[in-house]
Amino acid sequence: MKRPMLVGNWKMNGLGRDLEQIEAMARAIKQNPPRASVVICPPPTLLHRMSEALNHSAAVVGGQDCHPLPGGSFTGEVSAEMLAEAGARVVILGHSERRQARGETNEEVAAKVLAAARADLFPIICVGEAKQDRDAGLAVGMVKMQVAASLPDILAETDFAIAYEPVWAIGTGSVPSGDEIVEIHRAIRSILVARFGARGAATAILYGGSVAPANAREILRLPEVDGVLVGGASLKAEAFVQILQACVGV
Ligand code: PGA
Repeated sequence: MKRPMLVGNWKMNGLGRDLEQIEAMARAIKQNPPRASVVICPPPTLLHRMSEALNHSAAVVGGQDCHPLPGGSFTGEVSAEMLAEAGARVVILGHSERRQARGETNEEVAAKVLAAARADLFPIICVGEAKQDRDAGLAVGMVKMQVAASLPDILAETDFAIAYEPVWAIGTGSVPSGDEIVEIHRAIRSILVARFGARGAATAILYGGSVAPANAREILRLPEVDGVLVGGASLKAEAFVQILQACVGV
């Protein structure tokens, strides 16, 4: 039986009043110790308060991005060390919204992974093809290229996860077929094993993109799917707890 990883990505959502959702999640997690590792990634402004609200509940908090350097004249940026000090244990890197809107490259993502390792944060590295790549039959090749170029060698010595998030599935309600997900996850696994051996075989590969209470169990049951990265459905305790329950017995 798997012990999946369930990661909530709040993106640029969440004010202090939304901590009541986290308190409700923490109560549900305490009542039913989850058969999953649970991470919630709020905006940096909520990290500290959220980590306190989740305290003693088996769930941890994470950041959604970090700068490659520990500090300096970079207005508006947040370093991995700052996330860690605010309570983060994890950081999402290379999300497609950053790759697309901010032009973040694989090389920048790799530099951020080094920063995460330096600050002792567990990196979740996102990859995924655009619609036109999938339509052109290039999905596997695109994702393989992103994985190869976004992972620095230091990952041979530190734990991490990959999240496969097809760009066209994020926030759209469209989800790839089970076969399509498995095909990409297997391609990612083969790169990880070739490069990192036993660590690569044990690395969690998550699926993300329109995961919801109605499809979570089916996705989590697929071979090579070790967890899910959830955007919209992680904002409300009710939906997130239902996804948590879908982790039981997969
Ligand atoms: P979604 O977002 O679950 O709202 O599709 C997933 C993500 O962007 O990580």
